[in-house]
Amino acid sequence: MPELTYLGHSAFSIACSKGTVLIDPFLDGNPKASIKAKDAKADVILVTHAHGDHLGDAISIAKRTGATIVGTFELANYCADKGAKVMDGHFGGTMALPMGRAKLFPAIHSSCTDDGVYLGQAASFVLEADGARMYHAGDTALFGDMRLIGEEFDLDVAMLPIGGHYTMGIEDAVRAVKMLRPVVVVPMHYSTFPPIEVDPQMFKRLVEKETRTECVVLKPGESLAVEGIGHQERREVA
Ligand code: NI
Ligand code: MN
Repeated sequence: MPELTYLGHSAFSIACSKGTVLIDPFLDGNPKASIKAKDAKADVILVTHAHGDHLGDAISIAKRTGATIVGTFELANYCADKGAKVMDGHFGGTMALPMGRAKLFPAIHSSCTDDGVYLGQAASFVLEADGARMYHAGDTALFGDMRLIGEEFDLDVAMLPIGGHYTMGIEDAVRAVKMLRPVVVVPMHYSTFPPIEVDPQMFKRLVEKETRTECVVLKPGESLAVEGIGHQERREVA
């Protein structure tokens, strides 16, 4: 059953019955990371975009573990050139993974490496594994097509940036919850650095006042069991 562990910033580890998915593993340079890159386990590494706080340690972890980096065509090719095993895809496409599948969607953001290589558009993902559907928004502004993602998937969990400055902030993230309609929302991309310092409890209060979604604020290192969230009942009354 999927167990979602927050590793700090936008990094998550999802332990599924058929392997572990790591998302945006920015660990060694991350003051909030709960683990070091050398201790990360992965079979698949989903990377939303090439900014250093997302691509992070993906390449070194992929080389050490043999995990496959999954991302857009441009990002995957960049990682392959650095010696990682990759699977490339693009928006609207669904990729088969050992533990399930991932569908790639756009994010309203850019994507360039720390050394200035532009790698196209930033992405977000819906990961389906063990019957659970999990959306990781990457870095993004609010965009109306989140409604389409919410229509297509009965999301169990959405991981949304709330820190503002580089991404949507709390108020726009609440609007995103209204379009995505997940059973649970987990905030991310906040309070790692001074410009994105916000209070996640304020987000939780607004989400739970204005929507039927539950907000689970995870501290780095804390986990959430995704199976058994029981989204069906929730959505019938929504
Ligand atoms: Ni970014
Ligand atoms: Mn970022």
